[in-house]
Amino acid sequence: MSFFSSKLIMRYALIILCIIILTGAIFSQFTDNLIVVIIVLLTEFIILMMMLHYVFDKYVKPIKKATDTLDELVRGNFRARMHHPVSGSMASLLMKINKLARSLSELSINEKIQAEQLTTVIENIQSGLILIDEKGYIHLVNKNFLSIFGKTDKDYIGYLYYDVLDNETLHKSIQQTFLYEENVKESIMVDNGFKQYFEIVGAPIFDERNMLKGAVLVLYDITELKKLETMRKDFVANVSHELKTPITSIRGFSETLLDEDLNDKETARHFLGIINEESKRLQTLIQDLLTLSKLEKDESHILLSTIDLSDIINEVIPVLCQHAKQKDITLHIKSENNLKFSADLARVKQVLINLLENAINYTPKGGEVTLLSEEQEEFIHIMVKDTGIGIPNDALSRVFERFYRVDKARSRNTGGTGLGLAIVKHIVELHRGKIEIESEVNVGSTFHIYFPNQ
Ligand SMILES: Nc1ncnc2c1ncn2[C@@H]1O[C@H](COP(=O)(O)OP(=O)(O)OP(=O)(O)O)[C@@H](O)[C@H]1O
Ligand SMILES: [Mg+2]
Repeated sequence: MSFFSSKLIMRYALIILCIIILTGAIFSQFTDNLIVVIIVLLTEFIILMMMLHYVFDKYVKPIKKATDTLDELVRGNFRARMHHPVSGSMASLLMKINKLARSLSELSINEKIQAEQLTTVIENIQSGLILIDEKGYIHLVNKNFLSIFGKTDKDYIGYLYYDVLDNETLHKSIQQTFLYEENVKESIMVDNGFKQYFEIVGAPIFDERNMLKGAVLVLYDITELKKLETMRKDFVANVSHELKTPITSIRGFSETLLDEDLNDKETARHFLGIINEESKRLQTLIQDLLTLSKLEKDESHILLSTIDLSDIINEVIPVLCQHAKQKDITLHIKSENNLKFSADLARVKQVLINLLENAINYTPKGGEVTLLSEEQEEFIHIMVKDTGIGIPNDALSRVFERFYRVDKARSRNTGGTGLGLAIVKHIVELHRGKIEIESEVNVGSTFHIYFPNQ
């Protein structure tokens, strides 16, 4: 393209000018008329100017614009385009420059979108993430990482990991990832006022020549899993413990019976009575456990039908009356008639039995137990109130846990398994209802159940 550079054009112009002067001088040899010579020279000059203008407009100007556009593209402004009316080979050059600019622009948009997508993913994954180069400098930490370890990204990025990270296990994971150049797994506990458990997975990063370039560490929150694991362990321990007591007792008394003189009918009867009681306890425990496991399996165990609450109350009360009478407890039933709603009949019955049994069990002799049911706008409200021993504040949130008892000895004396309220809660939740307790020690407790009025 230097063929059309302005310097060369000036040189051509100078040569043409010389030619004009030369032709003017030669022409002046044939004529004395100065005017004719001047006219010829002027005409030649005008032709020269027109040629210059043509060359400038057709080649120099587009080349200048093309250079400017390319400069803009080099600077990263991929929106720069060339607008110049030309034809021939220059037109194809300009078209190609515009095409190049369009391709670059598309590439940069795609790159931007990809970068944004990557940032969104990194920032929004539910795990903490940290990227370290082969020299140990931190290049990236995501939002979740900062929420786990505190501080801002400025406190980490650009620093050596061992200068800014305090956690020993994290150091170890990073070192092992670099050392073994393979994925490393560790777990840590972070205490930010509450305990959180994380699984760290460290993965080395290699370049195309398979050289170690750095490492990325991902921290998965496994707190819930840990909780579940603890719950499962606790549950197994509790079940074993609950089973152990009656089984030990049955075994002990049956062994004594085997050793004893069976003619002593009185003692034998007494021991058999205990064995019978303990086996009943075992049966109740196993039944409750089965009920809980069925309730936990899925919602298909809820058989919805339109039920009349007054009918259920009429069925339940005679079962409990006996026990209440023995303890000289007065039962007050305040139930609206015709309380119909959609629920699982057997399960609602179980809720009422469990709550009323508790109310009677945990109310001293001569007390009162009230059952109230009423229709509210969105709910069917059932209330079981007693004048019993009450539940201390710190135990209120725990009474729905399996095997939780406020007073262990007392509850066992009543034959309780500690699963009654866990079952109640499950049933109420499966019906998408809610349960609330109010209680005051030595004054009494009130359980409110709300079933959706549907
Ligand atoms: N009405 C109440 N008044 C006082 N304490 C109560 C009352 N209801 C429940 N509790 C306390 O909550 C604990 C858990 O009750 P839950 O019904 O789950 O178990 P339980 O009564 O011990 O055994 P069961 O599974 O046989 O019902 C009880 O052990 C008791 O300490
Ligand atoms: Mg109970």
